[in-house]
Amino acid sequence: MSEAVVTMNNISYAYEHKKVLDHVNFEIPRGAFMGLVGPNGGGKTTLIKLILGLIKPDEGDIQLLHEPINKFNQWNKIGFVSQKANSFNRGFPATVYEVVSMGLTAKVGYLRFFNKTHKAKIRQAIDQVGMLDYVNENIGNLSGGQQQRIFIARALVNDPELLILDEPTVGVDFENVKRFYELLHQLNEQRNITLLLVTHDTGTMTEHATDIVCLNKQLHFHGDPKAYAALSEKDFSKFYGHPVNLVIHDH
Ligand SMILES: Nc1ncnc2c1ncn2[C@@H]1O[C@H](COP(=O)(O)OP(=O)(O)O)[C@@H](O)[C@H]1O
Ligand SMILES: [Mg+2]
Repeated sequence: MSEAVVTMNNISYAYEHKKVLDHVNFEIPRGAFMGLVGPNGGGKTTLIKLILGLIKPDEGDIQLLHEPINKFNQWNKIGFVSQKANSFNRGFPATVYEVVSMGLTAKVGYLRFFNKTHKAKIRQAIDQVGMLDYVNENIGNLSGGQQQRIFIARALVNDPELLILDEPTVGVDFENVKRFYELLHQLNEQRNITLLLVTHDTGTMTEHATDIVCLNKQLHFHGDPKAYAALSEKDFSKFYGHPVNLVIHDH
């Protein structure tokens, strides 16, 4: 058994009376690059909101880094990049450096100055995502894909153990999506950051992910990307239609 960064036990959640998650059980093993897939409205973003503590489950319990979520206080170890992050307009008055430094303000406090170590961390994070040439550029002048790299850098300044990304490549062109995945792969392998990535890029995903989880109200698949890729169309239509209980689990 590998160590789990996130454990969800029997999680159910409803908005008003609409049940969105129905007894979901899963773990994110430390070091995994987990792809979370499934149809629109399948509950992926809701699952992430639960992990981030933004909403509370109706049933079940969640552990983060072995702590029950209601006792957990190491939120800086969990980074989050959303699809909506990708929305700075041209002329937004902040440079790449400033946006990345915002990642540290939670730790340092808004009115305190960054010391040398902080400054080095900020530059290092920008370097890690391959954007050092743009350090003084206005964030609004960057492309969507470049902005997403900067949001990753903003998460990296806190040395996260888990990085959660909710459809980060929506609106990014194919070539840059590929490079984006290479960056994630590198963070996973070299910095040993556990990744949870919501995506529709199942093709690229199966190349890089270590685990795939398919969610449509219930968990319909949890296992190896190769096993996922080998599923038949009939299996997929089942996942995306009425519930089935195929679980391929080899952890
Ligand atoms: N704040 C909300 N209030 C009511 N219903 C919601 C809310 N957020 C999401 N939903 C509904 O919950 C279901 C799951 O949504 P979501 O978790 O966003 O799915 P996904 O991210 O997989 O597309 C959808 O049917 C959606 O319409
Ligand atoms: Mg979503």
